[in-house]
Amino acid sequence: MALVTGAGQGMGRAVAERFAAEGAAVVLVDLKADRLVEVESRLRGAGARIESRALDVSDESAVQALVAAVVAAHGRLDILVNAAGIIHPTRFDQLSVREWDTVMQVNVRGTFLFMHEAYPQMKRQGKGSIVNFSSTAGLTVSTLGGAHYTASKHAVMGLTKAVAKEGGPFGVRVNAVCPGLIDTEMVRATVDAERIAGYQAAFPIDRLGTPGDVADLVLFLASDRSAYITGVGVNISGGDLL
Ligand SMILES: NC(=O)c1ccc[n+]([C@@H]2O[C@H](COP(=O)([O-])OP(=O)(O)OC[C@H]3O[C@@H](n4cnc5c(N)ncnc54)[C@H](O)[C@@H]3O)[C@@H](O)[C@H]2O)c1
Repeated sequence: MALVTGAGQGMGRAVAERFAAEGAAVVLVDLKADRLVEVESRLRGAGARIESRALDVSDESAVQALVAAVVAAHGRLDILVNAAGIIHPTRFDQLSVREWDTVMQVNVRGTFLFMHEAYPQMKRQGKGSIVNFSSTAGLTVSTLGGAHYTASKHAVMGLTKAVAKEGGPFGVRVNAVCPGLIDTEMVRATVDAERIAGYQAAFPIDRLGTPGDVADLVLFLASDRSAYITGVGVNISGGDLL
């Protein structure tokens, strides 16, 4: 049983599609109910075992209720992917406390809440794999996002490493993906096509990443093929940080 947040669009959706194609039962989570309906009905039509729940990942009681319901219905939770996230490009001298809180609520609290609810079940099972979405911003500094986005993605790396260390002896692995510039609605809504072309021309692999590129990596990290990997953040950016 796999649970993927941010599954309504972008990389979360691509991950859910990849998992479904591999035969996994998947619970899709997103804020946008209409997107979930579309993804769920398409994947069900292709024969996949899919459920979905519209919720805000920063809503403690909603997250608790969902994870409890999944475990009650299926008896286990094998894989958790925390892809839900938001970006704001605001420069630091323009940044309000409210905007700082909003980005932290979704990117950090949302990731924390799902990990917090899933981890005890994975520990009981003696097995589980958590894949978080950090960013190259969590390794250096964001190109598109402000200081709050960079700080949130560093926090995701900290959570990933700390819980990986605690969870290792119990069979729970925790890793993160650190994407560079990936062609999703998030990027298209943040920068114009001209700037995107400028960025991609400077990458050693001179294109944007695709959601499918990242979904392949998440599949690897979620599966037993990465059984001896935990606590890492994998840079997937076409060589951008070189
Ligand atoms: N696109 C990139 O270049 C890039 C690079 C590095 C990291 N990331 C990270 O990857 C993840 C996925 O990004 P994407 O580009 O696919 O973004 P996206 O905006 O295309 O998709 C994100 C999804 O998360 C959902 N979401 C947002 N806030 C939510 C909330 N409070 N509760 C539930 N769902 C919520 C949105 O509705 C959306 O469907 C994010 O965490 C993002 O920070 C993206």
